[in-house]
Amino acid sequence: WPLHEQLYSADQVRQLDALTIQAGTPGFELMKQAGRMAFRHLLRRWPDIRSVSILCGGGNNGGDGYVVAGLASRKGIQVQLISLSDSEKLTGEAREAWLWACDRGCQVQPWQQNMRLTGEVIVDAMLGTGLTGNVRGHYQEAINQVNQYNCPVLAVDIPSGLCADKGVVLGDTVKASLTVTFIGKKTGLMTGQGPEYSGDCRFEPLCVPDSVRRQIQPVAQMVNADAIGRLLKPRSRTAHKGHCGKVLLVGGDLGFAGAIMLASQTCARSGAGLIKVMTRPEHIPALIARQPELMAQGIESVHQLDPWLKWCDVIVMGPGLGQSGWGQQIWQKVIHSDKPMVLDADALNLLAINVDKTFMPDKAQRNWVLTPHPGEAARLSGMSVQEVENNRLDTVVRLSEKYQATVLLKGAGTLIASDGLLSINNSGNPGMASGGMGDVLSGLIGALLAQGLSGYDAVCLGAQVHGLAADRLAAHYGERGLLASDLIDVIRVLLNPECE
Ligand code: APR
Repeated sequence: WPLHEQLYSADQVRQLDALTIQAGTPGFELMKQAGRMAFRHLLRRWPDIRSVSILCGGGNNGGDGYVVAGLASRKGIQVQLISLSDSEKLTGEAREAWLWACDRGCQVQPWQQNMRLTGEVIVDAMLGTGLTGNVRGHYQEAINQVNQYNCPVLAVDIPSGLCADKGVVLGDTVKASLTVTFIGKKTGLMTGQGPEYSGDCRFEPLCVPDSVRRQIQPVAQMVNADAIGRLLKPRSRTAHKGHCGKVLLVGGDLGFAGAIMLASQTCARSGAGLIKVMTRPEHIPALIARQPELMAQGIESVHQLDPWLKWCDVIVMGPGLGQSGWGQQIWQKVIHSDKPMVLDADALNLLAINVDKTFMPDKAQRNWVLTPHPGEAARLSGMSVQEVENNRLDTVVRLSEKYQATVLLKGAGTLIASDGLLSINNSGNPGMASGGMGDVLSGLIGALLAQGLSGYDAVCLGAQVHGLAADRLAAHYGERGLLASDLIDVIRVLLNPECE
């Protein structure tokens, strides 16, 4: 995997840092590189900048900030340099950086309550990966002051207050416009609240030798648009519909016709060869009118499912399934199939209710794909939604182990875990916070499975394409008012990269 797609924990970055120093690069040299890169990004983003406020903490993140201050001062930029700790007490490289900045004409002011920040841009070098627990003391005041001050912020390595591993905010957190992160991309920048607080994120690997990189296995990888070309091969010229997979979609109780319709239509537009939809009889005319290629059938008795469970290559169960007697009977029948299966929405809620009674995890199938949002993940794991949100990475890994499945945890920075693999998807936007988006995703993943992708690849590619389609639409028409059905035609375009 290319370096910019590898994601690390704070601890791993610390190890990379220490090993690089051991391999012969002095710590202060590494810090100067970080400061230089941050300064380069500052000038690139704000080329006409005349003044800057730089807030430095008492650790090495502060040290990076002192380097930026020394460079800015030498460049003739007016520097307001503020220290959150007693500079005399700085140690190690941070002390060297402070003295280096002083040599370059910087004057350090200690932080004071309600201090006026005078720079056109703020550089936040208060707390980096060394943050432990909720932000304390005058760091809290300073963070609030930065956020109230109406000007752009460059965060050094990570916005102060953001947990580098989990992407949760630990009390008050700086809201940055740009974050320049060093050595390794941290998982916390990519998931949960990370993207909201870090703004645009730029990565600078610094001079970590390859021999050092090889010693540390990243905790996760990022899924970006490159996945599309890598995972989707052009169709064979001799392909026929049987080669492209037969999908059975089940769901759509009364009142939820749209859910199964969206999933089925997306499945068709995503390249599945044949599609059978089994739903409430009342929905059949509308389904056929909208998409005549679908083989739609009403379920009056669950036995009607038998031949189709045998016929299909892949099952998608859940969109609009509901939890009434109708949905429960169908679930009980379909869940025992050994076909690859995407479980979404109420199929997940029914799984959470039934798993310990009728369906023990050790019997679960390795070819399941579960696509919970945090609420469903909470039910599946027996945690509260807040606990899920605070531990997104742990939750998705634990769920994939518990159900022996590929699990996609929805929400900003969608996570995908399967059999020891962990990915974070980088596409998508808040316009996707509208009904039906999950139905589109389950139909898309079903079609990709049917076309022969592994569970993990289908889910990574599905998440990326789903988010990217929404990003393209949002770039044209804005985020507000983005509808799930709008995505379908764009998904088709993205799945045919050779035509773009
Ligand atoms: N509230 C207030 N202060 C805190 C908190 C907290 N919750 N947690 C830690 N601190 C203080 C510590 O007392 C220490 O002074 O923050 C300082 C350490 O923070 P960092 O600078 O983030 O940690 P450190 O390990 O020294 O440096 C890591 O250095 O390589 C650079 O920028 C890079 O993020 C990286 C940073």
